[in-house]
Amino acid sequence: MRITMVGTGYVGLVTGTCFANTGNDVTCLDVDPAKIDKLNRGVSPIYEPGLDELIQRNTKAGRLHFTLDKQRAYQGAEIIFICVGTPSDEAGHADLKYVLAAAGDIGDAIEAAPGSTGGDADERRAKIIVVKSTVPVGTNAKVRDAIAARTSKRFMMASNPEFLKEGAAINDFNKPDRVVIGADDKGAADRMRDLYEPFVRQGNPIFTMDIPSAEMVKYASNAMLATKISFINEIANLCEAYGADVNEVRRGMCSDKRIGNQFLYPGLGYGGSCFPKDVLACISMGVQSDTPTTLLKAVHDVNQAQRNAFMKKIDGHFESLGFDGVRIAVWGVAFKPGTDDIREAPSLTLMNHLLDRGVSLTAYDPVAHETCRAVMGDKIDYADDPYAALDGADALIVCTDWDEFKNPDFDLMRSRLKSAVIFDGRNMYRRSLMREHGFVYHSVGRQIVTPEEQAV
Ligand SMILES: NC(=O)c1ccc[n+]([C@@H]2O[C@H](COP(=O)([O-])OP(=O)(O)OC[C@H]3O[C@@H](n4cnc5c(N)ncnc54)[C@H](O)[C@@H]3O)[C@@H](O)[C@H]2O)c1
Repeated sequence: MRITMVGTGYVGLVTGTCFANTGNDVTCLDVDPAKIDKLNRGVSPIYEPGLDELIQRNTKAGRLHFTLDKQRAYQGAEIIFICVGTPSDEAGHADLKYVLAAAGDIGDAIEAAPGSTGGDADERRAKIIVVKSTVPVGTNAKVRDAIAARTSKRFMMASNPEFLKEGAAINDFNKPDRVVIGADDKGAADRMRDLYEPFVRQGNPIFTMDIPSAEMVKYASNAMLATKISFINEIANLCEAYGADVNEVRRGMCSDKRIGNQFLYPGLGYGGSCFPKDVLACISMGVQSDTPTTLLKAVHDVNQAQRNAFMKKIDGHFESLGFDGVRIAVWGVAFKPGTDDIREAPSLTLMNHLLDRGVSLTAYDPVAHETCRAVMGDKIDYADDPYAALDGADALIVCTDWDEFKNPDFDLMRSRLKSAVIFDGRNMYRRSLMREHGFVYHSVGRQIVTPEEQAV
């Protein structure tokens, strides 16, 4: 099939590349010249394990193309996927300006395509416009109207929310737990099913449903995952207040199969380009329809409070020492391991808070220096390796649980840090190990390993 991806970001690039890899002819369109230039040189603009190799292989095979040229991208496309961003606007609504701009372009392209005779062949040739971006219920209808305002020719709509996770995106897309297709038109649903068949050979389901339900599945899924994170963070805070250890509580609780052990890790709260904005978009759907979203508002509030509580721990430690001349090392700036994405990363909130207090910061992340520099500029220093970040630092903050931080050389860490103090936002280390190695250790939902304990 000839496919066009509109928006060559984390979703459009990964899904387009995977569609090309199953033999489709895929054109990825973007409005960002730097991105397209990199891709045309065989360089991925994002870090995603395995993606470079897949891009190069499929580009070489002539199945994967990158362009800024709308005409070229839309001409002859049988299925057009809209994969542009849907960030929160200032009021927390999903901002649809990129989606609707793409819809307008698509309408113009359909209008300019060779004429229609209205016969069966035309029906089969009718383009399917698929909204893959995460959008509020009712958006597909708006996209349909925006396209129909520019053309009287026939086209079909489908909703196909994406569930890939950054850091594991290729595997997630190639072996999805499920594929969700919303369509009002059987012809569109059947063609979408054909496209996805190669990805569900192991028997995972393709669910076809009405468009509003498909749109809602994505929000409901992300809202559920965000709820789990806020839930365990709230429990962690109770553990901290009452002398329990959330890691132990987690083990005991998650062995109940009804609860399960996925996505129940306490930490700095959720970040990234999806959960924060999708929870806000659900809340705003509630406001617009006069439907209470009490739980989701609490999920959002708990998440904000979680970052603040961690900042308070840092402030508390330096209260008597003062922040004058303080240097702090930061391990991990990406919002989670496996990606260079720093959108809504907790690290940014923490680093900005500390910069406001006059602290000097040295960050180390295995892949996210470039994306971090694009936001933070030279307000912070970047180290080439994790231990170099520690040199002369008054404390270390762990913001991302990258594998390489899991089993570090604690003696080396101690020798490089000026003060052996760790604020661990990911509960990476055993408290007993921290005590053994002489660290003052703050984590989430567990008691502090204190200087007094060190003295014993
Ligand atoms: N990132 C994820 O892990 C993920 C997972 C599932 C769903 N989603 C959803 O997918 C959508 C895209 O997310 P993303 O992370 O890929 O965003 P992104 O910001 O990485 O990519 C969006 C791309 O669209 C381009 N663009 C904007 N307007 C355009 C236009 N008119 N024509 C062509 N290109 C245009 C931008 O330049 C950018 O490269 C969002 O709705 C998001 O919620 C994201």
